[in-house]
Amino acid sequence: MVQQKRSQWASNLGFILAAAGSAVGLGNIWKFPGKVGAGGGGAFLLCYVVIVALIGFPIMLAELSVGRRTQKNMVGAFRSLNPKWAFAGKIGLVTLFVIMSYYSVVGGWVLKYIWVYLTGGDFGTGATVYQDYFTDFITDPGEPLLWGLVFLVMTIFVVVKGVSKGIEKVSKVLMPCLFLLLVGICIRAVTLPGASEGLKFMFTVKMEDFNGDTWVMALGQAFFSLSVGMGILVTYGSYVPKEENLVKSAAWICVLDTGVAFLAALAIIPVVFVTLGADGLGMGGGFAFMALPEVFAGFAGGKIFGLVFFLLLFLAALTSAISILESCVAFLTEEFHMSRLKASILLAVPMSLLSAGYSLSQSEARGINLPWFDFTNGFQMLPMNAVMEKFTDNLMIPVGALCFCLFVGWSWKTTQAVREIENDGAKPFPLRGLWSVMMKYIAPVVIILILFFTIGKGEGLS
Ligand code: PFF
Repeated sequence: MVQQKRSQWASNLGFILAAAGSAVGLGNIWKFPGKVGAGGGGAFLLCYVVIVALIGFPIMLAELSVGRRTQKNMVGAFRSLNPKWAFAGKIGLVTLFVIMSYYSVVGGWVLKYIWVYLTGGDFGTGATVYQDYFTDFITDPGEPLLWGLVFLVMTIFVVVKGVSKGIEKVSKVLMPCLFLLLVGICIRAVTLPGASEGLKFMFTVKMEDFNGDTWVMALGQAFFSLSVGMGILVTYGSYVPKEENLVKSAAWICVLDTGVAFLAALAIIPVVFVTLGADGLGMGGGFAFMALPEVFAGFAGGKIFGLVFFLLLFLAALTSAISILESCVAFLTEEFHMSRLKASILLAVPMSLLSAGYSLSQSEARGINLPWFDFTNGFQMLPMNAVMEKFTDNLMIPVGALCFCLFVGWSWKTTQAVREIENDGAKPFPLRGLWSVMMKYIAPVVIILILFFTIGKGEGLS
């Protein structure tokens, strides 16, 4: 039995960078630019900023305050404040477990692309070579599994080293690298001839795009991107010393995460417009892997651009995966007194099996029929990969976020949370009244409306 002393971040900068590392991930670079395209450009950007400021930031602050008050993992934290609410922590754990299993698959794809660029960037020839290359790779029943495993092992390696010596140290190096690479890629992108079309699209606000779909998409994207609603920030908040200012830290995390998402859109959208036109944005999840290599191949220095882009995606994915695994590991080490290594390996085995299901369900496109990786939603058979992403993004994350609002607003009470946020008056929080109203009324109502909109319309999970 291993009894451990509770870890703490060695510095507030380290904490902010680690939490921003959790927030900045595939969601910012892989998903966000495509959503800007689908949401009509400027209208989506505006909705997104409003949701981050009015809903995402307050929930982030609530999660951090629960973590710092209890100094516990997400299940232990809820249990110690009100045992009836321990289920909310468990919802977060299940969500994280599922996210991690597909995150490591996509992380593996990114590693493979880094490898391709490092070894000469040869994707073959033909009119649809980039699409064919990606489809052939992800539908292969063996290779993506191996790359996914490599990604998972890298994540475990950092988490096993611990909070300040592993996660904080790695984040302090990787996050500045990520910003530098992204700014470099942005400068190249916006100075390409013809880039202004993409910029115009991004910053033109069309009134007809302010519809329910855009708001729903902005909310789902904001929660996923900020890593709220899953208990990650309870875990990270539990390592924050009492004297640190939670409001400032949360604001920094939101600004960094949103800044990176905007920079990623600035780096990608003009480039896509130059080569593929507006239609290039509609490629969904495969966009980064199919459209971008084609785009990069179209201009001088494109292979270096490609390598830098996938390195960036890798850094972002790794620091997010670390936060997911850390939150699950914290639960096992604290509740069951396991060592970090044992907890990581114990989690990695079922995560790998679920990852294999996600990865193998892509093989169906190749005509390899694997019926045991299909689920039915009552109307039709759905491949496992589609089910997992929709299950987490459209159902589990909003439900988790709703639990936080209801718990902090009505069970633990915002007055208690404010005491923690202010560290008993040492760090006054001038917007506490507004924050309490957001947590108690506005955020829960918005989330319930969104849940009705997506699931009630029958679109959320199908
Ligand atoms: N926020 C990460 C992203 O934008 O890719 C994803 C993520 C990290 C989701 C951590 C959930 C999580 F707990």
